[in-house]
Amino acid sequence: VVTDPEEFRALLRERAQAAGPEGTVGLVPTMGALHDGHSHLVEQARAENDVLAVSIFLNPLQFGPTEDLSRYPADLDGDLARLTDLGVDIVFAPGVEQMYPGGLPLIRVGSGDLGTQLEGASRPGHFDGVLTVVAKLFVLATGTGRPLQAYFGQKDAQQLLIVQRMVRDLNLDVRIRPVPIVRAPDGLALSSRNAYLNDDERAAALVLSRTLQALAAREVDLDQARHLIDTESIGQGPQTVELDYLTVVDPSTLAPADVAPGNLALVAARVGTTRLIDNWTL
Ligand code: PAJ
Repeated sequence: VVTDPEEFRALLRERAQAAGPEGTVGLVPTMGALHDGHSHLVEQARAENDVLAVSIFLNPLQFGPTEDLSRYPADLDGDLARLTDLGVDIVFAPGVEQMYPGGLPLIRVGSGDLGTQLEGASRPGHFDGVLTVVAKLFVLATGTGRPLQAYFGQKDAQQLLIVQRMVRDLNLDVRIRPVPIVRAPDGLALSSRNAYLNDDERAAALVLSRTLQALAAREVDLDQARHLIDTESIGQGPQTVELDYLTVVDPSTLAPADVAPGNLALVAARVGTTRLIDNWTL
């Protein structure tokens, strides 16, 4: 476990070079509070690389002033036990002062038009914050002399697309490996934020995956699907799930698209005070 960025860079280089000329390096960026969805990324990365690093960093740059940064779940001991079991070589777990010495960075990576839509419309600056920290992680993990593969979940479809676009636009020497969404047996997409849900909210949250699936099966149209989500009640009380967006896009551009095979349905909704996202390839 290393917390200093330069120590991380040096240790990764040492391990990568020890792996021999054919060795590859895997990197799984996370914000901690690890669950089985994260484990799935780590397992795939472990199987595909000689040296594997996981980062745990709750990145303040990607949280808005009214968002859940201060109450975001944290469990470093649990995370380290999980990562040890998964055979991770290096955990990079810096503090904010180590990642951003002297305050938040002046120079940042901009996500452009892709970052102002959908999640970005509700979370201004979020994707610039994501890209800035991901770029820093990529810079630290490249230069080992070995190919770098970085793993991102399709759960955060817009994030994955924007990271892929950054790699292309800035000629970063990183191969992005997408990993399918991991769901609970009842269909709820696993998320660190699910820890905020009480029993009634967790039951209501199932409307997201259920409705995406119904849309994919053409049992409902887009308007009916929106209505189903927006009117889903939470427990016995009058409170309902509050839809932010449910839309179908072209998966390579995020441009609005028809409900047609290959396109991507994206949803975001507030269940109680918890904002959840999910998506489904039609
Ligand atoms: P975090 O939310 O911790 O997620 C880390 C990675 O795990 C992301 O690539 C995310 O898409 C993936 N993931 C989370 N839940 C998943 C699920 N149910 N199935 C598949 N993959 C899942 O995403 C971030 O952190 C941050 O924005 C980060 C990229 C680390 C930059 O700070």
